[in-house]
Amino acid sequence: MEKILVTSALPYANGPLHLGHIAGCYLPSDIYVRYLRIKGKKVIHICGTDEHGVPITISAEKENKTPQELVDYYYEIIKNSFEKLGISFEYFGRTSTERHKKLSQEFFLKIYEKGYIEKREEKNYYCENCKRFLPDRYIEGTCPHCGAEGARGDQCESCGRWLEAFELLNPKCKICGNTPVLKDTFNYYFLLPKLKDDLKKWLEEKENWKDFVRNFALSWTTEGLRARSITRDLSWGVPVPLEEAEGKVLYVWFDAPIGYISITQEWANKNNENWEDWWKNKEVKLIHFLGKDNIVFHAVIWPAMLIAHGEYILPDEIPANQYLVMKGGKMSTSRGMALWLDDFLDRYPADYVRFGVARVLPETKDSEFSLEDFERECDTYLANDIGNLVSRVFRLFEKYFNNRVPEGETSGEYENRMWEIINSKIVKIEKNFESFKFRQTLQDIIEIAQEVNRYIDFTKPWDVLKKDKEEGGKIIYNSLSAIRLLSVLLYPYLPFTMKTLRDSLNLGEPSWDEVKNPFLNEGEVLKSPPILFPRIRGKVKEEVTEEKEEEPKEEYITYEEFRKVKLVVGKVLNVYDIEGADKLYKLEVDTGDRVRTIVAGIREHYKKEELEGKNIIIVANLKPRKIRGILSEGMLLAAEDKDGRVIILTTEKETEPGLGVL
Ligand code: MF3
Ligand code: ZN
Repeated sequence: MEKILVTSALPYANGPLHLGHIAGCYLPSDIYVRYLRIKGKKVIHICGTDEHGVPITISAEKENKTPQELVDYYYEIIKNSFEKLGISFEYFGRTSTERHKKLSQEFFLKIYEKGYIEKREEKNYYCENCKRFLPDRYIEGTCPHCGAEGARGDQCESCGRWLEAFELLNPKCKICGNTPVLKDTFNYYFLLPKLKDDLKKWLEEKENWKDFVRNFALSWTTEGLRARSITRDLSWGVPVPLEEAEGKVLYVWFDAPIGYISITQEWANKNNENWEDWWKNKEVKLIHFLGKDNIVFHAVIWPAMLIAHGEYILPDEIPANQYLVMKGGKMSTSRGMALWLDDFLDRYPADYVRFGVARVLPETKDSEFSLEDFERECDTYLANDIGNLVSRVFRLFEKYFNNRVPEGETSGEYENRMWEIINSKIVKIEKNFESFKFRQTLQDIIEIAQEVNRYIDFTKPWDVLKKDKEEGGKIIYNSLSAIRLLSVLLYPYLPFTMKTLRDSLNLGEPSWDEVKNPFLNEGEVLKSPPILFPRIRGKVKEEVTEEKEEEPKEEYITYEEFRKVKLVVGKVLNVYDIEGADKLYKLEVDTGDRVRTIVAGIREHYKKEELEGKNIIIVANLKPRKIRGILSEGMLLAAEDKDGRVIILTTEKETEPGLGVL
């Protein structure tokens, strides 16, 4: 069986998670592994906190904690948030373990001995006031390239350039503000240029990677590849395993990805598995999920480390995401500006948060999160399209069948149409799951739910059941089976609610076999589920879109529903009588896209020449239907006067056929 090792970037244990983290990495990876499990694949999902480096020590100083206290604190917080959100890791570890230290040191020594690491003398900034070296973010100054203030010793956030501290103009110690001095030291450099050809060859084969990932990585192998310092004068981290290097630790980006392996070891140890079956097994597919700012490390530096080491597999896929932005800025822990995950989880059920983020996953470009869209979409799609579908079907099922699955024929005019549409969507859904297009996949699944709703709207089981229980039972049978299918497809996105739904269908873990054959067992007794998705914007009562069985009352439609009606301007070209139908005309109408035939009951009210050349308003996406043997492809809008005469709606000024009506 195919084995797949999925990792999610290890979040720094220096602050709580925000929606940017979730959208960039953890939700897509979780959707993917849940899909793989449904597919019956052997998969492990590995993650943990990244607990070393300057990001940790700086935050610790800010929060008045030791680095160890800080990472212990945030490890629990982060782990907990992931659990609440339903992110399903096989193991969630951390990088401050002994095992991790040992493995990182071995890794370092191995490539050191193979000649890929070299000691270099250099001068680094030192603060005489704080009595310490100032690596990376401990030093700030003016960017020599773009002139921005507050550029860090390792990167200017303004122009995005990777800097060396000595390049900064007007450098200052971040802690005390003193001007630092340059002091002799030495560090160890990873000799990337030695690996250039291997790297390039490996990358060039990755033809199906997302363009922005592959191009970004490739540009590094042609331009930016130079030896990089992989050690720091710092007291927090994995000590460099050489006697001569006392007081130095590994650069956090050197030890962190090794965490993927050490955490797998931890998992294997606790679960009686063999970690080498994963990391040293060429049959295993390795997939790293991460956000855009991590690409260079995963697509260039880490593979280079792995090639240099030689015993481990290399990544097969790096389906990185771009950024989720909120009103004009990237979310970032260090700037304290974010939509905090825990706030969301306090206010909304986890599945709503998953759904809202899945709708805006920045898969190919940055995308924006808006609270208003989020709430509206939850109501429209979760509450109306999915939740209400389930309750409208179960209501009739309970009332007429006492929850016992009726006998059901699965073919018939409407059934064939519905299943055909569903099946063609499934082909697409499967393909898109495989290629990490989770946004489109969700859209297609929603459209399946909408199709099932349409099927019910057309067949009107609440009417049919009153007259013909068998015929009505068929509609219920097909609807319930389609709901079962949805419970599998939506599982990766909405695991909590779909579990509830599947419990009521007497089903356990979902499997792709159910997608191929979703039909329920006749005679089985199911349980009515609770309301799956209560509305957020309470105003509308839960029941509002339910069929009123007795007297259909006038109901509101939402703007979203109205927006589905496509109104366009049409120009009447020709008007014909229809033989044997003295109330009808056949009109030929130019609607911009084509000339449509429309059958309209206005013959008693208009002469042909009164109509020809007129602009009329057409509902253009009404399902075509045959009237007197003629296929009518739209409906014209008209009003009535007090004598019951029909008056067509027209445009007040001349305009062009095909233009939309607002
Ligand atoms: N901690 C890093 C970040 O949040 C990601 C580390 S990923 C790993 O950007 F591969 F290094 F583990
Ligand atoms: Zn200082």
